Amino acid sequence: MKSEKAEPARIVVLISGSGSNMQAIAESCAKKELDGEIVAVISNRPEVMGLQRAKEFEIATDVVDHTEFSSREEFDANLIRAIDEHTPDLVVLAGFMRILTSDFVRRYKGRMLNIHPSLLPKYKGLNTHQRALDAGDKEAGVTVHFVSEDLDGGANIIQAVVPVLDDDDEGTLRSRVQIQEHVIYPIAVKWFVEGRLSLNKGDAYFDDKPLPIQGLQLK
Ligand code: GAR
Repeated sequence: MKSEKAEPARIVVLISGSGSNMQAIAESCAKKELDGEIVAVISNRPEVMGLQRAKEFEIATDVVDHTEFSSREEFDANLIRAIDEHTPDLVVLAGFMRILTSDFVRRYKGRMLNIHPSLLPKYKGLNTHQRALDAGDKEAGVTVHFVSEDLDGGANIIQAVVPVLDDDDEGTLRSRVQIQEHVIYPIAVKWFVEGRLSLNKGDAYFDDKPLPIQGLQLK
């Protein structure tokens, strides 16, 4: 994609909360580590910290409050309108805690990424850190993947693996994983804007070669 256009890739980030991953990507853009620009941050919750962070980076913000719509379809249709106003090349889900309709997912197929705090395909859904602790796992981590219609089930791009320590609780494990989130999400976005990532028949490719099931792993 990058080679066809002189301008930085246009990135729209969807958030529901703190926005620390959005900030990591915004910092990478600001430092020109990746040739992209976050053109808008859209939240489904008003007054979250991520909106404040976006304003500090002088990024346009918008709120599409899911509680104002009577159905998922109606919410997603309004979200699509808010996103498409910014003509994005890439849509980044960064702690966006809504289940999306198939129509929404299909619209941005191959150009929508998500970050999930587990070593997918392990622990789709919620409470990932506690589930890893309860299972006695020795390793935990985080995954960036393409978004598909299967919740947390799209093709993996990159994972960071961290150790689970004997005295970990949910909070300590979450903090260790989050440090890695802020490393791997900017990397995945960089690869995307450089045109190195693609999705073909549900599989992720890096430099035209299929990625392993777990994606590229940083240990
Ligand atoms: C991150 O830990 C991310 O992995 C998780 O939400 C957090 C958002 O933090 N995402 C999910 O659980 C998605 N299923 P942030 O708002 O500070 O980036």
